[in-house]
Amino acid sequence: MCEIKIIMMKILCTTSSFNANNFPSDYEVIMNPFKRKLTEEEVIGLIKEHEPDGMIAGVEPLTRKVLETSDKLKVISRCGVGLDSVDMQAASDRKILVFNTPDVPVKPVAELTVGMIFCIVRGIGSLNSGIKKGSWIRSTGGLVAEKTIGIIGCGRIGSRVASLLEPTGAKLIGFDPYIQNHSLCKMVSFEYLLTNSDVISLHIPLTPENNNLLNAESLKKTRPGTIIINNSRGGLVDENALYELLKSGHLGGAGMDVFLTEPYFGPFTELENVILTPHIGSSAGNSRVEMETSAINNLVTGLNNFVLNH
Ligand SMILES: NC(=O)c1ccc[n+]([C@@H]2O[C@H](COP(=O)([O-])OP(=O)(O)OC[C@H]3O[C@@H](n4cnc5c(N)ncnc54)[C@H](O)[C@@H]3O)[C@@H](O)[C@H]2O)c1
Repeated sequence: MCEIKIIMMKILCTTSSFNANNFPSDYEVIMNPFKRKLTEEEVIGLIKEHEPDGMIAGVEPLTRKVLETSDKLKVISRCGVGLDSVDMQAASDRKILVFNTPDVPVKPVAELTVGMIFCIVRGIGSLNSGIKKGSWIRSTGGLVAEKTIGIIGCGRIGSRVASLLEPTGAKLIGFDPYIQNHSLCKMVSFEYLLTNSDVISLHIPLTPENNNLLNAESLKKTRPGTIIINNSRGGLVDENALYELLKSGHLGGAGMDVFLTEPYFGPFTELENVILTPHIGSSAGNSRVEMETSAINNLVTGLNNFVLNH
């Protein structure tokens, strides 16, 4: 009698939080044992130990060194939109399929952004902490309706931010080298946006060209009192320059969901006019479940595709 041995495909789930019950039962799943963002060495260790066929990835560095750890890896399915953490050239060289979930984070990131804008313009954060400390200082804040909002990157999330702000009557301007006309934003140059916005919100990918796009030089060109929102990626803004210009009072406030190093416990925590959230932009309501389902579907499609072609 011959024995049939069924070999289950292995999935390594490196994202820091993921509902393991969502995986189909015909895969062996290894979850991130650290339950936080992994370092390059930690991912290499997990790949060496488990030799996965596919990965559900968060924002940990999937460098060439990581991707060269095992010949078995065939599919990387990012649970999220940004692919800046994946060495795409290395993945292509090694014929590893890479997927992301671009549509699900649009609404939650846009709503977080608009929430931060209202909160900072009106001073809700400092009024809230003031009253809790026993002070009754009735500073009135500003009106979003009277502001010029500069959106850098008018793709999916930037456009959704514009559509949520449009009913307020705020003036919407946008800069995007790949978009000439936009139905809601008047498209302007980068320089014009820097010098004419009351609020600047970043909705662009982190690429080598975009690294530190908002640095000391560009931030100093902004109007006094400008509010900076970065819910895209930490490396897009020079955190030291941003901190200095907030501390000096040149900038009026900031909202940030993303940081160069996460978890973040740095000096922005000391500033009253800064709203910080722990990289939860894409996780609200059903969006996390939708994103996880979409990431698993992409992974299964990729692995099935591999099996069919080999
Ligand atoms: N906080 C979070 O949890 C979270 C979740 C999802 C996405 N994000 C970030 O949001 C970013 C935007 O997502 P999206 O879905 O809108 O992407 P998208 O690709 O739809 O839009 C990005 C836009 O940026 C433009 N762009 C690129 N470089 C630019 C530059 N230097 N100046 C101006 N415009 C530029 C592109 O032309 C494009 O139109 C992602 O890359 C990701 O980093 C963050």
